[in-house]
Amino acid sequence: RPAAAETLVVSAARLLDVRTGRYVADPQLVITDGRVVSWDGSGAPPDAEFVDLPGLTLVPGLIDMHVHLTGVADIGGYRSLGYTDAFWTVMGVPNAEATVRAGFTTVRNVGSDDFADVALRQAIDEGRIIGPRIVPAGYAIGATGGHCDNNFLPPSYQATAPGVANGPDEMKARVKWMRKYGAEVIKLCATGGVFSKGTTVGEQQLSEEEIRAAVETAHMLGLKVAAHAHGNAGIRAAILGGVDTVEHASYLDEETIRLAKEHGTALSMDIYNTEYTLAEGEKNGVLPESLAKERQVGQVQRDSFRKAVEAGAMMIFGTDAAIYPHGLNARQFRVMTEYGMTPLQAIRAATLSAAQALGREGQVGTLDPGAFGDFVAVSGDPLADVTLFESPAAVVKGGAWVVKPD
Ligand code: ARG
Repeated sequence: RPAAAETLVVSAARLLDVRTGRYVADPQLVITDGRVVSWDGSGAPPDAEFVDLPGLTLVPGLIDMHVHLTGVADIGGYRSLGYTDAFWTVMGVPNAEATVRAGFTTVRNVGSDDFADVALRQAIDEGRIIGPRIVPAGYAIGATGGHCDNNFLPPSYQATAPGVANGPDEMKARVKWMRKYGAEVIKLCATGGVFSKGTTVGEQQLSEEEIRAAVETAHMLGLKVAAHAHGNAGIRAAILGGVDTVEHASYLDEETIRLAKEHGTALSMDIYNTEYTLAEGEKNGVLPESLAKERQVGQVQRDSFRKAVEAGAMMIFGTDAAIYPHGLNARQFRVMTEYGMTPLQAIRAATLSAAQALGREGQVGTLDPGAFGDFVAVSGDPLADVTLFESPAAVVKGGAWVVKPD
């Protein structure tokens, strides 16, 4: 005889059906062995755990498509060189817990050293530590001297990031190597960036040919591709090269937005973190060069976000947590609504659309029967006030309590 199934039944004031954008009143959400069974109490055995969350609104567990769980916001610039390699993996443990406690039950970790994101995923999935479902990328792949190389040391140190690849053949080989050790998504660095030393945000660092080589290999292996790109030329090369999501996407013009729509490329625009960097970056040791680049790019990116939303591009929720402290991910919802989204659009970016961009529709980002039993509960009306997500009243992942109200 198989072991008895474990069922959780949660009643609440309402449940947000993210597909229709409507509330379902007085739901009784049934989750058995980690998966949603029904919204109306049906299928619940008498020995289930029954919990009442009066006045609360249930929303599918949130998805952040751009985090770095091993990054620490208050250790910036050269200060990071004072820590031993495994320090970052160790810090991934509390960071993962802070993230899931904030209601983000799924994250895409787009780059970490030492396959630390694969390690975190293994430990979380086996229930040894607390954290979200992780879609790991392993190391970010990019050019010598590019945004994802290690540019902090003089040549005598011979510091080269393990994700460095030049030319289509090396790109293909790095993709295969990443997958061999557990990557479930591939991250490319197509332009310079804010926090890398000696790069400009505008410069393109991978050719369309290199990007296409990586994308073809990744897609052949069943992996999606995320490309970091701020400058317009790099964004266009990434879209034309076939990537699935463009990260940052700061310099968008009408033609590039049109291309993104035509190719079905999703845009993951981290428009909250600029506030944190400009307020705390200097104190945290962020390079003066990076602060200058943040001042250059922050408002431009927010204006691009508004244009992309107005044009109907596919938008997904990605914050670059690590630039700001993990667990504050939901602060980006407010900025998204300030720059053109309705609350429902912002919520869909972090649920339905994110799941689609992960290739995990029906599994996460929804509470439809069959999906993982992941939800966040807030007190109030999130379709009127997205800042409610900044302080969730309850969080459940896979039918298990992460945050349980007393
Ligand atoms: N990882 C990105 C970079 O270094 C972060 C950009 C943050 N700034 C922003 N306005 N989104 O380029």
